[in-house]
Amino acid sequence: MSSEEVHSGLEGIRAGDSAICHVHHKSGGLSYRGYRIEALAEQSTFEEVAYLLLMGQMPDQKELNKFRKILLRSRNLSERVRVFLKSTTPSAHPMDVLRTAVSISGMEDSDRDANDDQANRRKAIRLTSQIPMFLGVFRQHVKGQEAVTSDAALSHPEFILTLMTGISPDPADIRAMEISLILYAEHEFNASTFAARVTASSLSDLHSAVTSAIGSLKGPLHGGANEAVMRLLLEVDQAGDPEKDIIERLHRKERIMGFGHRVLKKEDPRSRIMKEVAKSLGERKRNQKWYALSEKIEEIMLREKGLYPNLDFYSASVYYLLGIPVTFDTALFVCSRIAGWAAHIIEQHDHNRLIRPRCRYVGEKEREYIPLNKREEIS
Ligand SMILES: CC(C)(COP(=O)(O)OP(=O)(O)OC[C@H]1O[C@@H](n2cnc3c(N)ncnc32)[C@H](O)[C@@H]1OP(=O)(O)O)[C@@H](O)C(=O)NCCC(=O)NCCS
Repeated sequence: MSSEEVHSGLEGIRAGDSAICHVHHKSGGLSYRGYRIEALAEQSTFEEVAYLLLMGQMPDQKELNKFRKILLRSRNLSERVRVFLKSTTPSAHPMDVLRTAVSISGMEDSDRDANDDQANRRKAIRLTSQIPMFLGVFRQHVKGQEAVTSDAALSHPEFILTLMTGISPDPADIRAMEISLILYAEHEFNASTFAARVTASSLSDLHSAVTSAIGSLKGPLHGGANEAVMRLLLEVDQAGDPEKDIIERLHRKERIMGFGHRVLKKEDPRSRIMKEVAKSLGERKRNQKWYALSEKIEEIMLREKGLYPNLDFYSASVYYLLGIPVTFDTALFVCSRIAGWAAHIIEQHDHNRLIRPRCRYVGEKEREYIPLNKREEIS
């Protein structure tokens, strides 16, 4: 490779070693610390997966009970964060609110000045519990209602669903949310995780790295896609002719959100699982309209562009049917991906090398400096 060769978007570049997530290039398979995503989605819970990502091993029952207890104990917010959440403009985007709430929490965290593994794990567990609380308090504020539930007994997915919908969810809805959290938890060097690692690589702290990651995840080419997909589905449904609408969008060179992936050029195994969740949720709720429309768009995109849906595509209608307000879709991604980000931040700190690539300079050649009073005015 010539030293001047540029890899735009770092496409195809392996920027480091990682033992957290394996995206099998050829088979299109995916595993977290050696466990296949299909097995995790079918048999595991989000709490087990978060433990696996953070600690490196599956917990036994005793370890899981202890982990859950700490998660439950961490469901509290400082007065400063609460005041911030209740003073935000109700039209603020939940991702902006989250980014700032995580940042404020970093100033106050009891492990603020420590970057060792144990401190990072404690901080990660606290954030895993607090992030849904940030969203819950903000949501109540938007609706003009009072304090959120922090019911100590609820599992992570049940807690999130309760905060987002304001009602007690049924077990099948909780499982749908759980599967989505498991699928969203980790995906190696994606943009937000890489942003987190870049920040951590200067030996900055976990909250700073997570704040960077949230900023990166917000964009529609990354996590923001799930919200954008639901807006697309609503628009296409309104227009009444999906075939015509999607083809026209493609002719206008619009990107159809929820399709394509930088690494996965064939089927995304997570999307396959999420599609099944969307199908059975639609049947259970006696509302198959969104599933049918999504399937139709999937068929058009494969035929016209050879593109497959990614995880965000079927997640959008699943969240919609679960009663999640559309603007909160990407923030739910954060409730899960915090586990993966934290695992990467710990790994980065453990084997640190400052991430500092080069660019190929394509700007002006050297120019003579002319003092301000001698420069001609440009009107
Ligand atoms: C995710 C994404 C950024 C990956 O893109 P990438 O690997 O950089 O691929 P490129 O942007 O180079 O696209 C390659 C070609 O496919 C097209 N393409 C890729 N995704 C597309 C989409 N969702 N809709 C329409 N066309 C798409 C591009 O327009 C380009 O076509 P061209 O060669 O005729 O110009 C891209 O697929 C995308 O924008 N998807 C929509 C957003 C999304 O769902 N993001 C979540 C990702 S998990």
